[in-house]
Amino acid sequence: MSNSRIPKAALAAALAAVVTTAWGANPGASLGRPANPAEIKAWNIDVRPDFRGLPQGQGTVAEGTKLWEAKCASCHGDFADSNSVYPPLVGGFQATKQEMKTGIVTQLATSSNVNGTSLERLSTLSTLFDYIHRAMPWNAPDTLSWNDTYALVDYLLNLANIVPSNYVLTRQNVQQVQDILPNRNDMTWNQGMWPGGKQVLKSGKVLGNGGIPDTHNTECMKDCAPKPAVASSIPAYAMNTWGNLQDQMRPWGPVRGQLTLTAEELKKDRQAKQAAAPSGADAKVVSLLKAHGCIACHSMGDTKLVGPGYAEVAKKYAGKKDMVAELTKRIIHGGSGTWGSIPMPPQSISEGDATMIATWLVDGAKQ
Ligand code: HEC
Ligand code: HEC
Repeated sequence: MSNSRIPKAALAAALAAVVTTAWGANPGASLGRPANPAEIKAWNIDVRPDFRGLPQGQGTVAEGTKLWEAKCASCHGDFADSNSVYPPLVGGFQATKQEMKTGIVTQLATSSNVNGTSLERLSTLSTLFDYIHRAMPWNAPDTLSWNDTYALVDYLLNLANIVPSNYVLTRQNVQQVQDILPNRNDMTWNQGMWPGGKQVLKSGKVLGNGGIPDTHNTECMKDCAPKPAVASSIPAYAMNTWGNLQDQMRPWGPVRGQLTLTAEELKKDRQAKQAAAPSGADAKVVSLLKAHGCIACHSMGDTKLVGPGYAEVAKKYAGKKDMVAELTKRIIHGGSGTWGSIPMPPQSISEGDATMIATWLVDGAKQ
């Protein structure tokens, strides 16, 4: 019997069983199954330095300009040089002819602007494709097509004076651009951390030094200095310059952002939020979705994050009261195949809460 014939419900139940089994109890080798090609494809999204993983595609600077204005300029500035809140991507300084020739932007080490901006620092063009396609726009990651990504990379390369404004970037010429990237030779490989010891690549580049990672300290055992406490803080005058940082946190990833409001401002903020908050049963569901971390993968609107936006789901099941039980089950046990190849993992949520959410969905997902 082929794996694909195992009924989905049985699979979901088996997954749920794994999750509820205590660690260490070893549920046994009989559970689970190998990932299928569609699942592997959904996760295997990286673009490597040799451009493995970069699909065919192409884009022009003109297309990139339009996309940039629509999807990126609001945070990074019209010419990608804004450094007010989000990182500037170009314009730190212009790489010199000599630097372009050697592939090492020496200004990075000597200039007072030591960080430069992304395009001067970049050693592997693949990173730009990989990062933009996977993570940008920040508020709607994983929404750009590959052609969009080619166009945006072409736009940024043109802004950094690496390619002319009529340059068409394609899968076939990315390596040529890599070969003229200003800082292409400035990545250090000479560390013991590269696996497998010293390796000489086909390109002649040497990976690793065959040694151990470059830490040499031994732990102090007696008469030790007190452990330093490393901390950072925002000076009082700059506290609320960009609004309350705590409100700008994403619900997943490393925590960033702290409460930057004064007690007085916080009080006003709470009052304003209370006045604007939806009331009643719908509000209860919205707070359930937040409390259970559902919004890490689902937006409240139409935008697909990892899973479909709740407005989308509501449209599909509008008025279908007979789907409430089934959706409740899918929320608890997870599921796959209805919205694409990425599966939804089982959720630890009570049947009561899941039913409430399912009912809210078929009733139109009002907020
Ligand atoms: C809502 C604000 C926002 C929008 C819109 C946005 N970005 Fe970003 N961008 C960010 C933030 C924040 C970071 C830094 C993220 C981090 O460090 O985790 C970032 C980082 C980047 C970086 C990496 C910079 C570096 O050197 O590390 C690139 C490249 C980038 N964005 C490109 C784009 C492109 C292309 C678009 C449009 C498709 C876009 N961004 C839209 C906020 C945004
Ligand atoms: C790790 C990401 C993730 C989390 C967390 C998550 N979901 Fe999902 N969800 C998905 C994905 C992916 C799908 C699409 C599955 C498919 O195609 O069948 C989905 C689908 C759904 C659907 C549509 C089911 C269908 O068959 O049409 C509902 C309803 C849903 N999720 C509710 C929830 C609720 C409620 C929570 C929180 C308790 C939650 N999800 C948490 C990723 C997630």
